[in-house]
Amino acid sequence: MKKGICLIWIAVFVIACRQENSYTYTKDIAPILLKNCTPCHQPDGVAPFSLINFNQVNRKKKTILEVTQSGLMPPWPADRNYTHFVGEKYLSENDKLTIKKWIEGGAPEGDSADLPENTYLPIKSSIGEPDTTIWFDSIYVEGNSRDHFYIATLPIELPEKKYIRAMEFLPGKNNLVHHMNGRLLNYENTKKVTISNGKRLLNLETNEQEYIEQFNQLKLANDDGSRPEQINSAVNYLPGATGQIYPEGIGGFTINSKSILLADDIHFGPIPQGKWSHNKVHLFFSDSVPKRPINEVMMGTNGESKIIPPLVIPPHKITTHTSFLEIPQDISILTVNPHMHLLGKHFKAYAVDPSGDTIRLIHVPKWDFRWQYFYTFPTMVKIPKGSVICLEASFDNTSDNPNNPYNPPQEIRERFEFGGAGMRTTDEMLQFIITWLPYQEGDENIRLNL
Ligand code: HEC
Repeated sequence: MKKGICLIWIAVFVIACRQENSYTYTKDIAPILLKNCTPCHQPDGVAPFSLINFNQVNRKKKTILEVTQSGLMPPWPADRNYTHFVGEKYLSENDKLTIKKWIEGGAPEGDSADLPENTYLPIKSSIGEPDTTIWFDSIYVEGNSRDHFYIATLPIELPEKKYIRAMEFLPGKNNLVHHMNGRLLNYENTKKVTISNGKRLLNLETNEQEYIEQFNQLKLANDDGSRPEQINSAVNYLPGATGQIYPEGIGGFTINSKSILLADDIHFGPIPQGKWSHNKVHLFFSDSVPKRPINEVMMGTNGESKIIPPLVIPPHKITTHTSFLEIPQDISILTVNPHMHLLGKHFKAYAVDPSGDTIRLIHVPKWDFRWQYFYTFPTMVKIPKGSVICLEASFDNTSDNPNNPYNPPQEIRERFEFGGAGMRTTDEMLQFIITWLPYQEGDENIRLNL
């Protein structure tokens, strides 16, 4: 009898524990991963493995616990206590706790009836049906577990000049693209006979001599050697978030019947086995002339404000650099893009208005060259005439920096020789790209997260 009571007590105790810790994959974890992880961790996602079923998740649970608790995943390097942007990736404290408790509770699978309708959503256009789709030449990405950086070109021929409302980059199967920044080179028919006789790919890990030769082989100049019209940031891509379309009347540009999209650059993450990467561009046309085409200004390397002190980073040193740009008219900022390479450590940008007030732009406390987002503000940020945009960044050229390309460390600098253009990853850069419009009354209220 005594034994019987004891057994009952044990049973009650076990049930009580289970109830207190009844988190399951199907009920609690799959919905969190669907929203926060599987945009990348899926068969066609940028991450090297999928997290779309119990077995995959169960196998990785130890690292999942680590990277979710430390904030490494989902990747979002910008400080959310400083400023907010469209499409921020983060886990709520509650989600983090749920993951922790599920794993501590033995990571049970749960009842399959509890699973959400989908454990992942295939990657597709976030804008809709494009008017035209054009594929890049496929790129073979070597499987040597290193990052790779390329310049790729895509000649675009259309029957006539068109207005573009939006351009969208989408990786196809085997998505390996970490990020890409695309500018459009618009050619006049009279100035360039053919746009399709240049090379389509340039590996940025090359020496200077080869780089210049290969760059010339892209044949981007007009036939007389002059430069074509260039539309910067015609399309940008960041993993886990596809095309950006702005509210009616904002953005857009003209595309000539002959143009080349210059993906400068495309970054591929490390993979253990070589794979082909297939990538395409969607064009969305508009019937009307762009009313408020977007402008871009670049600070720092190759840009409109110089870096103080110049970007020369001695070995075994951590250096800090600044740059300042005065804004001559009222502007509305849409996006910002901090850019550094492997030695980047920290980045901050803000504006100081004529009354001395600070307008926050972005803070990246721990730079990670793998996640170079174009950050879009939820509503445009007004910067009054006479403000100064200030940026501060530091670089770590010690051997404590796991991304240091040299061991022992060597002096690393901008490539002043080419005005800083087309830099290799092992060179350094400090850039801040701002897309903006001349300010109009009410801009602060226009939401950009359509
Ligand atoms: C924006 C795309 C993206 C999102 C969203 C994302 N990941 Fe990742 N994840 C990656 C990539 C890419 C890697 C490979 C490492 C790298 O390139 O930094 C990775 C690596 C990992 C790793 C391996 C880390 C290691 O040290 O081996 C784990 C575990 C992981 N992710 C879990 C998650 C979880 C859990 C979530 C959601 C909470 C998530 N990831 C969200 C892209 C993403």
